Amino acid sequence: MTERRTAVVTGGGSGIGRAISLRLAEDGFATAVLDLNEEAAESVAAEARQKGHEATAFKVDVSDRAAVEAGLDQVRSTYGPILVLVNNAGITGFKEFMKITDAVWDRIVAVNLSGPFYCTQAAVPDMIEAGWGRIVNISSSSAQSGQQYMVHYVSTKAGLVGFTKSLALELGPKGITVNTIPPGFVDTPMLRASEERGLLGGTVDHHADLTPVRRPGRPEDIANAASFLISEEAGYITGQVIGVNGGRNT
Ligand SMILES: NC(=O)c1ccc[n+]([C@@H]2O[C@H](COP(=O)([O-])OP(=O)(O)OC[C@H]3O[C@@H](n4cnc5c(N)ncnc54)[C@H](O)[C@@H]3O)[C@@H](O)[C@H]2O)c1
Repeated sequence: MTERRTAVVTGGGSGIGRAISLRLAEDGFATAVLDLNEEAAESVAAEARQKGHEATAFKVDVSDRAAVEAGLDQVRSTYGPILVLVNNAGITGFKEFMKITDAVWDRIVAVNLSGPFYCTQAAVPDMIEAGWGRIVNISSSSAQSGQQYMVHYVSTKAGLVGFTKSLALELGPKGITVNTIPPGFVDTPMLRASEERGLLGGTVDHHADLTPVRRPGRPEDIANAASFLISEEAGYITGQVIGVNGGRNT
């Protein structure tokens, strides 16, 4: 492994991606906070720097292959080879199946599934060269349970589970692990927006009461698991689905 380790977190400007970015910076990674929302990414990178860590924001739309390649080149020239990639950027959707248009379907697939494909293809050569790498894909517990009116979203997240399992087989011999964390019910701007639109079938508090650990997830819960999967100690864990959901799905 090279001495300096660079981590890329997509969708690092908010919620789960923000917590993962701050945690990896704290863990000692030079952290590239990628987001479509440049201001949000910059505020996360600045927060990490204020704590004495290394982090830089990059504006990238993960659904655009050329932008991803250019963005990761910029990361490389700032920090060196990319050895850790967290594919976290995602968008949600809520529509009756027969009302999902091609445009809505295509956009959610582009961000949630093609995004990780483009980012991973752009980062993996560095990991192969180093003989070490870590990829963590943020899927969703809805891929375990199914979710009404979210066929498009859940299809992308289930796709990411298959992506993880298959890629792990290919990259294991090269020293690279690939795992997925399917979060469930984590208190982020995405979850609160769904609550406000009445899409949760009850409030966040109501769902917390139905959750075995009796609270919503915190972005830090996902960051803790990601940090472990990225650590040296997790080198024998690959191709796995590591649920972090308060016991809502097993
Ligand atoms: N919050 C939950 O309970 C929950 C549950 C299951 C899965 N997830 C997944 O976790 C991930 C993070 O979700 P969150 O709740 O933190 O959401 P969030 O909306 O708070 O943050 C998502 C971030 O991704 C960025 N983003 C969106 N499209 C992008 C694009 N094309 N390119 C680059 N960045 C883009 C947004 O700007 C935002 O900063 C998502 O993949 C989501 O599907 C969340």
